[in-house]
Amino acid sequence: MDKYTLITGASSGIGYELSKLFALGGSNLILVARNNEALYKVKEEISILNDVDIEVLSIDLSKEESVECILDFVEKKNIVVNNLVNNAGLGDFGEFAKSDYKRQLDMIQVNIMALTKLTKVFLEDMIQRGSGGILNVASTAAFASGTNMSVYYATKAYVLSLTEALYEENTKNGIRVMALCPGAVDTGFQQKAGIKKSKLAKGNIMDPNEVAVIGYTKFIKTNKAIVIPGFKNKLLIQAMRILPRNLIRKIIKKVNKG
Ligand SMILES: NC(=O)c1ccc[n+]([C@@H]2O[C@H](COP(=O)([O-])OP(=O)(O)OC[C@H]3O[C@@H](n4cnc5c(N)ncnc54)[C@H](OP(=O)(O)O)[C@@H]3O)[C@@H](O)[C@H]2O)c1
Repeated sequence: MDKYTLITGASSGIGYELSKLFALGGSNLILVARNNEALYKVKEEISILNDVDIEVLSIDLSKEESVECILDFVEKKNIVVNNLVNNAGLGDFGEFAKSDYKRQLDMIQVNIMALTKLTKVFLEDMIQRGSGGILNVASTAAFASGTNMSVYYATKAYVLSLTEALYEENTKNGIRVMALCPGAVDTGFQQKAGIKKSKLAKGNIMDPNEVAVIGYTKFIKTNKAIVIPGFKNKLLIQAMRILPRNLIRKIIKKVNKG
C-alpha cells in the first residue's frame, strides 16, 4: 500500500503551498477541496515538477457525509494516509447576532467537525502502524476571543486545544501532531470572510508560501506542538500570555472594528 499525505483546502492559499512542499519532499498527495477545476490545476502544476502520485477529491466538508466519502475513496484506492493536513477553513466577519447562521454552522462543520472526524479515523490507523503525522491549521485567533469574528476564533481555539491534547497523548506512539498558528496571511481567506475592512487585514500580513515553508519544515524536522510563523505573531502571543484577558478583549475589539 502506498503512503499519502491528505491535505484539505488544497485548492488555494496555505493548503496549495503546503501541497507543493509535501510533493517536493517526495510525498504522494490526496488533494481535497470543493473546487474541482482548481484542484486539477494544482495537480497539473505539481505533477510537472515532482514524481509523485496525486489524487484529487472534490468534496464539500460542510456536508456531514463528506468524511465518509473521503474514507470510501481512500479504501477503494487502497491508500494509506500517513500524514493528514487539516487546513480547510473559513471565517466570517460581523456581530454574532447579525451574522448568517448557515455560515456559522458551516464554519463549525468545516473548521471543527470535519477536522475532528478526519483526525479520529486517520489517527487510529497511524497508531496501529506506529507512524504518521497530523498538521492542523489553527490561527493566532486560537489564543483569544474575537469580537466580530466570534465563531471563527472559537473554532480555532478548539483546533488548538484538541491538537495540544493529541500531541501529549501521542508522543509515546511516535505520531507527530502539530498546530500551525498563522496570523493574517495574504490569501483569499480575508475577502471570503468579509474581513477587508478590518485593520487586521492591513498590517502584518504574511505570504502564504512563507507560512507554509515554516509550517512544513517544523512539521517534518521537529516535534513541536505549536508553531507560530513570524516574529511579530510570536511576540503578540507572548504578550497575550501576560496581559489581562479583559485588556486583550478590548484590543481585539478595536482591531476587529471593521
Ligand atoms: N489567511 C489568513 O489570514 C489565515 C490566518 C490564520 C489561519 N488561517 C487558516 O488557514 C487555513 C487556510 O486558509 P487560507 O488562508 O489558505 O484561505 P483560502 O485560500 O481561502 O483557503 C481555504 C481552503 O479551504 C477550502 N475550503 C473552504 N471551505 C470548504 C468546504 N466547505 N469544503 C472543502 N474545502 C473547503 C477552500 O477550497 P474550496 O473553496 O475549493 O472548497 C480552500 O482550499 C484555514 O483553516 C484558515 O482558517 C488563515
